[in-house]
Amino acid sequence: MPRWRRLAVTVLVAGSLASRALAAAESPALGRFPAPDRPVATIISPAYSKEDLRDRRGEAERVMDRLGLRPGTRVADIGAGEGYYTVRLARRLGEGATVYAEDVSGEYLKSLAARLRREGLAHVKVIHGEPRDPKLPLAAVDVAILAHMYHEIENPYEFLYRLRPSLAAGARVAIVDVDKRTEKHGTPPALLRCELAAVGYREVDFIPLAPADGYLAVFVPPDTLPAPETIMPCAN
Ligand SMILES: C[S@@+](CC[C@H](N)C(=O)[O-])C[C@H]1O[C@@H](n2cnc3c(N)ncnc32)[C@H](O)[C@@H]1O
Repeated sequence: MPRWRRLAVTVLVAGSLASRALAAAESPALGRFPAPDRPVATIISPAYSKEDLRDRRGEAERVMDRLGLRPGTRVADIGAGEGYYTVRLARRLGEGATVYAEDVSGEYLKSLAARLRREGLAHVKVIHGEPRDPKLPLAAVDVAILAHMYHEIENPYEFLYRLRPSLAAGARVAIVDVDKRTEKHGTPPALLRCELAAVGYREVDFIPLAPADGYLAVFVPPDTLPAPETIMPCAN
């Protein structure tokens, strides 16, 4: 084969390999992430418990104070459900604030949008995510709050991986949950730390929320994500 033809073939093959690699990087990549090595809780409700009881125990106030949220902080309520956190975030941060309310249930989001209109909080951006991808805009979130929902995420490794591009420089991920087995709608703190660390997230704060239920654990995301196939799953 003449030299010019060999060169043309090489360029074509290299080009097609490169475009396949690009396509793989952009594909949903299902199957490349390990499955969680523990049960995933079923979605059963759009709320953790009664809002007035949670307020009497100071849950949202405590979490928002501890996170130092103030006007200008862009916040995402991931797994917003009925909106216990969404409405309190929107009220505290004010009209000009960026608040995302994300969930996987279209039905829950529809009634949350109606609630937000009723309560004059229509500036909140409601986002319909996917079980493994919150679908938030790029570099748009300073604080992501995942309250009483982490144990319901069907693949936490893939979810945390796909959340990373939406986190702005200096962003934090705040997880509120109870110390129970995942099938009982909680997440033991050691398991939570292991799963977050597996994707490169580092814990920077942890407080029990008593007299409210559970704990608040805060993480910072990695600068560089691990290759999905190198992630080691954690046991319950
Ligand atoms: C028990 S409710 C908690 C709602 C609210 N965060 C609270 O504190 O009351 C759990 C919510 O998480 C949502 N959820 C479960 N898996 C999810 C996922 N992978 N991505 C986004 N939302 C999810 C459910 O649809 C449900 O609305």
